[in-house]
Amino acid sequence: MKRYFTIVYIGIVAMLAGSCGGGASNPADTPSLIPEKQAPATTVSEPVPLPSTGQGSFESLVADYESKDRGIWQKPELVISLLGNLEDKVVADIGAGTGYFTFRMVPKAKKVIGIDIDERSISFLDSVKVRLPERYRGRFESRLAKPDNPFLNPGEADAVVIVNTYGYIQNRIKYLKTLSKGVAPGGQLLIIDFKKNNLPIGPPDEFKVALSQVEKELITAGFTIEKIDKDALDYQYIILAVKPKEPKNDDSR
Ligand SMILES: C[S@@+](CC[C@H](N)C(=O)[O-])C[C@H]1O[C@@H](n2cnc3c(N)ncnc32)[C@H](O)[C@@H]1O
Repeated sequence: MKRYFTIVYIGIVAMLAGSCGGGASNPADTPSLIPEKQAPATTVSEPVPLPSTGQGSFESLVADYESKDRGIWQKPELVISLLGNLEDKVVADIGAGTGYFTFRMVPKAKKVIGIDIDERSISFLDSVKVRLPERYRGRFESRLAKPDNPFLNPGEADAVVIVNTYGYIQNRIKYLKTLSKGVAPGGQLLIIDFKKNNLPIGPPDEFKVALSQVEKELITAGFTIEKIDKDALDYQYIILAVKPKEPKNDDSR
């Protein structure tokens, strides 16, 4: 297991070393896609919270999240480019997992906060941090959060990304309102998750949150939708929202 993680670390650090020349990370060259672990069957037709990611060994989660084929469908550089120039931005990656997005953003951003509720993720992120080139180490911070609170300081994040994690969050409107307090006025929120339609990868359809529902929840929580893209990624939708510069008239926020 230690040997496997070493290989993953080397991969992440090599990816970062490559990025200092400004080049995109290399997509893998094999087209086979590794399915995520099947969640238990359910008879509920409305979206339900995904089963805990703590199920199964952390080693298998790392293998899933850091699969070398993922670049083909995840297009991380395209996704990150949607946030624009990150040089002066603090970015929070909520549900950072193994840091698939976190560590791709570190070389580009002022700071990246990798947030997760799983202590194993936090340990993993920290173990990658010590292997980063020294000039990047100070730009990364891990943060252990609670399921109902990302523990951002008021206005701390200029941008937030939530990738493959939205469905794990319960009481999402309340969560989004709490999150909003940690986002600077005018700050961005990028949500990416799996489309419905029995895809070869990702969770079963009954666990997914439909794009229209994410959109509604964001608006209810006070965000403004800036962009929706259902086509850029084969298996996933992209929603880019913004926290308005002026607070909306809503006493419940
Ligand atoms: C499927 S993984 C996605 C990891 C990463 N974003 C990626 O795309 O590779 C979901 C992650 O979200 C975390 N998570 C689940 N609920 C969360 C919550 N309420 N707040 C923060 N992280 C959460 C899990 O521990 C897990 O690491």
